[in-house]
Amino acid sequence: MDAYGENVIIMNHPLLKHKITRLRDKNTGTNEFRSLVNEIAMLMGYEALRDLPLKEEEIETPIEKCMAPVIAGRKLAVVPILRAGLGMTNGILALVPSAKVGHIGLYRDEVTHEPHEYYCKLPDPIEERVIVVTDPMLATGGSAVSAVDFIKRHGGRKIKFMCIIAAPEGLKRLSEAHPDIQIYIGQLDRELNKDAYICPGLGDAGDRIFGTK
Ligand code: PRP
Ligand code: URA
Repeated sequence: MDAYGENVIIMNHPLLKHKITRLRDKNTGTNEFRSLVNEIAMLMGYEALRDLPLKEEEIETPIEKCMAPVIAGRKLAVVPILRAGLGMTNGILALVPSAKVGHIGLYRDEVTHEPHEYYCKLPDPIEERVIVVTDPMLATGGSAVSAVDFIKRHGGRKIKFMCIIAAPEGLKRLSEAHPDIQIYIGQLDRELNKDAYICPGLGDAGDRIFGTK
């Protein structure tokens, strides 16, 4: 593991590394960028959901009836942080199509880099669900901390945060503010620059997913 403790899982899979490199490349266009974000979310989801609750269901094979495990899908909620987190949602829904989806709208002030909330709606009830919060970028950590604060205020308890690229500054802030959540990271980068962008990073994730700017 690493110095951040066992709640922080930094992915180490060649397929993931390859896809993240393609994502970073400034010559990767919107269409490919979007596909890669979803593929990465699916690969990360496979790991992050390994403790998803199962239930037994009776089925009949060509040979006999038996009880067999199936995902208790209604127990999962995916909560993207808008906008960029939306890009990861379908990747996780491809694994668990019956998951509910909530939304947390936050944007970072360009000067202060502090998050501002503009829309929040969570599946109700939320208490018993495993909640996967998605956002490709964990930079200062302000957005992630606010999103998890919001979910906890509404009763969410079993929270996993999933990002594709993290800066050490944001990881420290999130893991200190919410030591009880699991944090899944595709790649841990070097540092933030003076504009609080991740270096080397991939630029502005929302703009690259939605083709804005
Ligand atoms: C980006 C990103 C995160 C946030 C990370 O969103 O998707 O939500 O910045 O930065 P932080 O860790 O310093 O809070 P942004 O605010 O640019 O909004 P957008 O997704 O709508 O473009
Ligand atoms: N948000 C982004 O989209 N990219 C960064 O590098 C930092 C915050």
